[in-house]
Amino acid sequence: MAEIIDGKQLAKDIRAKVTDRVADIKEQYGKVPHLVVILVGDNPASQSYVKRKKRDCERAGMKSTIIHKDTDITEKELIDLVQRLNDDNDVHGLLVQLPLPDHINENIVINTIRKDKDVDGFHPLNIAAIHTGEHGIVPATPKGVMTMLKSAGIDLVGQEAFVIGCSNIAGKPIAMLLLEEKATVTIAHSKTRDLKKHAKEADIIVAAAGVPNLVTPDMVKEGVVVIDVGINRVEGKLIGDVDFEGLKDKASYIPPVPGGVGPMTIASLLENTLECFEILEGKR
Ligand code: GUN
Repeated sequence: MAEIIDGKQLAKDIRAKVTDRVADIKEQYGKVPHLVVILVGDNPASQSYVKRKKRDCERAGMKSTIIHKDTDITEKELIDLVQRLNDDNDVHGLLVQLPLPDHINENIVINTIRKDKDVDGFHPLNIAAIHTGEHGIVPATPKGVMTMLKSAGIDLVGQEAFVIGCSNIAGKPIAMLLLEEKATVTIAHSKTRDLKKHAKEADIIVAAAGVPNLVTPDMVKEGVVVIDVGINRVEGKLIGDVDFEGLKDKASYIPPVPGGVGPMTIASLLENTLECFEILEGKR
C-alpha cells in the first residue's frame, strides 16, 4: 500500500510559511510583495487560474493585481505593458497567463519579462539557470514536484527517474532538476517507441504527458514512486496521467489527482513571488 503524498496539506504548510514571511517583510520594509498577472482574452480556464493566483496571494498577505486585456491587443502593446511593469518599483512579480492569442508570439513576450520578476521561471535566463545548476527562479510546477519528493524523504541519488512528457513548463525542467539531484534520467515523449520498457526500469516516474490514465499498474515495478503532474478534464472530472486506483497498491509513494501537484503549483508560485521580492529589494 503506497504512502499518499498529500499535496493539499503540503501546499497549506507552504502557504502558512509564506504568510509568516510576508508579515515579517511588512514590518521590515513597510510594504508587501506585489504580483501582477496579465490576462489576455477570455479563456475560461485561464480566468479561473488567474483568479486563484490572486486569491492565494492575498490570503498570504501579498498584493496582487490582474490586468485584463482584450484579445485584440497587439504584440507591441503587450510588450510595452510588460516593459512598463518591469520598470515599476511597486511590482515584484510579473506573469503573463498562457496561452496567448495566435497573433502574439509567446516567446517574444516572455523574453521581455525582467528575469528577476519572472515568477513563472519561463524566461530563457531562468531556464538556463536550471541547466547550469545556478540559482534562478524555478518554474512553479517543477518546483512543486521537487518539494513533494523532498518532503516524502525520497533519496534521488543514483535512482532511475523516468519523466513522461517534455514540455518547457513541466517535463524538461523536471528532468533537469532530477538530474541536478543526481538521478539517472530518461525522458519520454509522444514518439517514444516503448513507454512500458522504460517505465518498468524506473524507481521514480513523473508523468507529465497530459494523457488521462497513461501509466497503468502493468507498466511499473513494485515500490515505484509515482508523481502525477497531469490534470485532464474528462466528462467533467479531473483525472491525472496515472491510474491512481490501480497503482496505489503497487507504488511506494503517490499523490492523488486532484489534491497532488495542482495545489503545489500555486503554493510554489507564492514562494517565487516572495523570492523575487527579496532579490529585488536586496538590490535596491
Ligand atoms: N498556463 C498554464 N499554466 C501556466 C503557468 O504556469 N503560467 C502561465 N503564465 N500560464 C500558464
